[in-house]
Amino acid sequence: MNDSDPASLADIHSHLVPGVDDGSRDLDDTLTSVERLSRFGIRKIITTPHLDGSLTHSPEALEARLSEVDRAFDAAAEAVGLRFPEIEFRRGHEVMLDVPDVTFDDPRMRLAGTSFVLVEWPRLHLPPGTIQVIRRIVAGGFRPIIAHPERYIGIDKELDLAVQWRAAGAFLQVNYGSLDGRYGADAKSTAMRLLRRGWVDYLASDFHGRPDRKIYESEARELLHDLGAGEALGHLALTNPARVFRDELPLPVAPLPPEQGFWAKVKSMLGTDDL
Ligand SMILES: [Fe+2]
Repeated sequence: MNDSDPASLADIHSHLVPGVDDGSRDLDDTLTSVERLSRFGIRKIITTPHLDGSLTHSPEALEARLSEVDRAFDAAAEAVGLRFPEIEFRRGHEVMLDVPDVTFDDPRMRLAGTSFVLVEWPRLHLPPGTIQVIRRIVAGGFRPIIAHPERYIGIDKELDLAVQWRAAGAFLQVNYGSLDGRYGADAKSTAMRLLRRGWVDYLASDFHGRPDRKIYESEARELLHDLGAGEALGHLALTNPARVFRDELPLPVAPLPPEQGFWAKVKSMLGTDDL
């Protein structure tokens, strides 16, 4: 497989391990989801069930949870391998930073066992001290990818936090659905502002494995093509997520072209735009 092939997209955030979180309920959900993702050209998947980082304070509880996910993932991976041999199906976790000192020593907590870790803060609220938390993860030798930063409440008012996270060694992953308004107007405009600054490293589905949910990959792809950001899209959806599988750092993503149109010009004249 070649990561310059447009028909080999990679996805590093989804909830397709059956029965372990709010994603796929059973193997049928998982197989249907993989089939739907494959229709978009996705050929490499790292699925990422939720995991509370505070479990790392209790080795027995952590092992119990990881073993539960192991069993469900192994069964799903076998079925996916038989039905879709062309798809590389791996696992990691989306780790909730519900304590500031989560450790990532167990490779099962990381994306396909690499040095990359997908992280989020609880309930879409940013606690104080997020930069220090990122620094601690990086100092431990790991590469944090912050899941859907555009969805945090109030992030639109303090977007500079994103550049500080990046300076501390984090990478940013925006959800496809955010670009189509799936999480509301604020998340969409924040996602676009992050993209216009060139601060986003990855796009991902965050697909929760239910037949009644949309995936939004094609809507996002269409939007970025219409904005003339085809090259950035290639990095965000294909090259950079594929590099995670090889434990390689993402390539820089060119900022999206500035906002066009009458109101963008007015905002620019008033000095209120923040591109
Ligand atoms: Fe998620």
